[in-house]
Amino acid sequence: MKTLYVMDPLDRIQVNGDSTYMMMLENQRRGWPVWMCTPSELFADQGIGMARARAVAVRQSAPHFVPCSDEVVELGAFDVIWMRKDPPFDMHYVFATYLLDLVPSSTLVLNDPAALRNCNEKMFALQWPHLGPPTLVTRRIDQARDWIRSAPGRVVLKPWDGNGGRGVLVAEPGDPNLRSMLEILTEEEKVHILVQHYIPEIAEGDKRIILIDGEPVGWMLRVPQPGDHRGNMHVGATVQACDLSDRDREICDAIASELKSRGMLFVGIDTIGPYMTEINVTSPTGIQEINALMGLQLERDLTDAVAACLAAHRGEAAPQGARP
Ligand SMILES: Nc1ncnc2c1ncn2[C@@H]1O[C@H](COP(=O)(O)OP(=O)(O)O)[C@@H](O)[C@H]1O
Ligand SMILES: [Mg+2]
Repeated sequence: MKTLYVMDPLDRIQVNGDSTYMMMLENQRRGWPVWMCTPSELFADQGIGMARARAVAVRQSAPHFVPCSDEVVELGAFDVIWMRKDPPFDMHYVFATYLLDLVPSSTLVLNDPAALRNCNEKMFALQWPHLGPPTLVTRRIDQARDWIRSAPGRVVLKPWDGNGGRGVLVAEPGDPNLRSMLEILTEEEKVHILVQHYIPEIAEGDKRIILIDGEPVGWMLRVPQPGDHRGNMHVGATVQACDLSDRDREICDAIASELKSRGMLFVGIDTIGPYMTEINVTSPTGIQEINALMGLQLERDLTDAVAACLAAHRGEAAPQGARP
């Protein structure tokens, strides 16, 4: 199963927490060729999706990546292509998905490029409004202020395209900074933002649940560090083991068929208390932390799922004993 990872440059990968590294390592363990390129190395010639890419030996100890020399290859020469570029989700990212649309149907692209394009992590979650906290999406400051005035308590203001907690603010209804915060976040009413009821259960943590082909397979809590409200590991939140609640299962059940039908094999959803706040489809992380907390090897489950998905994609029977 020759696999190409479209990802950030290898020298930027922090192997100690990186999920893509674990996926590559597992491919290598099975004796399957591992290749990589960056999104900027994708191109098209006469409508044929291509890349300047290289085979990579992936190792558990340093040097973790030993790349071979560059080659120009057709994307159709791979069995599987994983789009694992980290955020930001911007026009460069979107353009890479256009190039991935040119991959022949015999190659499986994960997650599906159309889904990567269509499903923004915060806006996609709003397709199930009953599963999330009350949320307003607007760029009009007066509308946001009216909505906040009628909220029962604190609110959270956040960019629709943020990540890692960047720009996520908590405000009180009577906060004298409120108009100013809205001006900054909406860039003077030029961009939409999300305004959301504050969920007090964030004190217990922001739960990451990993779903493989729609099934919840691993979970953990990210607990904000003292003095910060954000449950993002980027800004110092610590990870903790937890259970999957009945409500979490209800949320996973509700979205499963949509994830499957859209070709979203590897997804990380976030829940705070009883609410789903995000559906991360672009490059979910958490494999290493969840493995350590739950005694799992999620990269194996994921790679098994990829093999089964490829077989189904090509209309074959699932391979027997895909794992050596
Ligand atoms: N509705 C909310 N109530 C309480 N805290 C929230 C809420 N929304 C976001 N947060 C806090 O902000 C953090 C980041 O918000 P999130 O929506 O996950 O955006 P990002 O994409 O930046 O991770 C969360 O981990 C949580 O601590
Ligand atoms: Mg988040």
